[in-house]
Amino acid sequence: MAAKIFVKKAIKSLKGEIKIAADKSISHRSLIFSALANGKNTINNLLESEDVLNSAKSLQRMGVKISKKKDSTYEVIGSGIAGLTEPEDILDFGNSGTGARLFMGLVTPFNFKTFFTGDKSLRSRPMKRIFTPMSQIGSQINARQENLLPALIEGTDHPLPIEYVMPKASAQIKSSILLAALNITGKTTIIEPDLCRDHTEIMMQYLGLELKIENLSNNNANSHLKLDNSANYSNIEQSILDGNWSNGRKISYNGVQEFDAKDLLIPNDISSAAFFIVAALIIPDSKIELKNIGLNPLRDGIIETLLEMGGDIEIYNKRQKNGELIADIKVRYSDLKGIDVPSNRVARMIDEYPILAIAATYADGVTKMNNLSELKVKESNRLSAIYENIIKCGIEAKMGDDNLEIIGGIKKLDNIPKITTHHDHRIAMSFYILGLTMENGLEIDDTSMINTSFPEFLSLFE
Ligand code: S3P
Repeated sequence: MAAKIFVKKAIKSLKGEIKIAADKSISHRSLIFSALANGKNTINNLLESEDVLNSAKSLQRMGVKISKKKDSTYEVIGSGIAGLTEPEDILDFGNSGTGARLFMGLVTPFNFKTFFTGDKSLRSRPMKRIFTPMSQIGSQINARQENLLPALIEGTDHPLPIEYVMPKASAQIKSSILLAALNITGKTTIIEPDLCRDHTEIMMQYLGLELKIENLSNNNANSHLKLDNSANYSNIEQSILDGNWSNGRKISYNGVQEFDAKDLLIPNDISSAAFFIVAALIIPDSKIELKNIGLNPLRDGIIETLLEMGGDIEIYNKRQKNGELIADIKVRYSDLKGIDVPSNRVARMIDEYPILAIAATYADGVTKMNNLSELKVKESNRLSAIYENIIKCGIEAKMGDDNLEIIGGIKKLDNIPKITTHHDHRIAMSFYILGLTMENGLEIDDTSMINTSFPEFLSLFE
């Protein structure tokens, strides 16, 4: 049910340590890999949000035993990589594109039928990007309008290894292929011209699966397939940190490999942290600390951008856990300035544009964001949702086909803007933060879907 709320300037400053929700991407993957492992494991700090719980429920429908031990601690009894059984009922992924798309890869190499659906937002999101590689592997797909949910995937017990050149930087596409590859005999290859988050690869390697990841060389402008063979995985992670990653990667996996269960610890989510980081930057006198935040170098574009805008953000206590980079973060109120966000940074901060737009309203000058076409197919058309609502709040902005410009400064309004979220959690949270800075406040049409990623968000402000 829609939960309309009114938000206005109510807090003087944000102070102290804030517990951020666990990482959504890694939570989905931890459940899936635990389900396919041999033996029992414990997942610590699992995100207990609607999206992730829908993935857990879907695995249970395929015969996997998952039990809650205490808050955010779950035990999974893995069925082995080939142990899933046909779900008796439709799998409903609610609001989650990640859940739906990863499970499409998961079920493709099983000789059974799986029905997929989701909420209104998910039923409007394009699925061909997954159907294309899955039908090359050998599944039969019947989907509404060929591209939308509900869809039926009939898997195959003769799945074929494919070589797939990623048409866009999407970790959902890459991960669905890797999940299928777990049960495909032979070598599956993915060419990634533009990099996107690599939590699946990191988790596979942590669990002992042999995955070859090579940097594509920049020596030969004609061939993005030329490889720097000397690179091993940790060099590659380092090369991203060094800023030397722009030529993409080749990922190869030889199935079938079995693996044993291992306990997993989920870091906290940089995408959820971003709301508080921006809130602290724009609410005077704020000083906050966020602990155990996942800072995978393919997710940290928002930090880089806010630093370039003049944000006082300190990253410390960097360490590795389960192969993922984790750190603690201190943020202080700052004078921000507008910048041109480099267009090759999009995949590294794809979910953070709504909250970046809020930071931009408090920046001096213009913030330009380009290459945003993927924003149009998220939980809502985020490009137009940001623009439509920013304008309502008295902020000057320009929107193009795949770009957005925000001119810093916010006019005092006579009316109370009514924010339309289009059932998108990140739009709701971003405008909640903006509302906290507005004397007369704003109204948000629905906040119920915040539960899909950050169930404690509203209560943290209370
Ligand atoms: C995700 C990948 C991203 C991101 C989404 C989570 C994932 O989508 O927007 O919130 O966990 O793989 P794309 O990979 O499609 O860009």
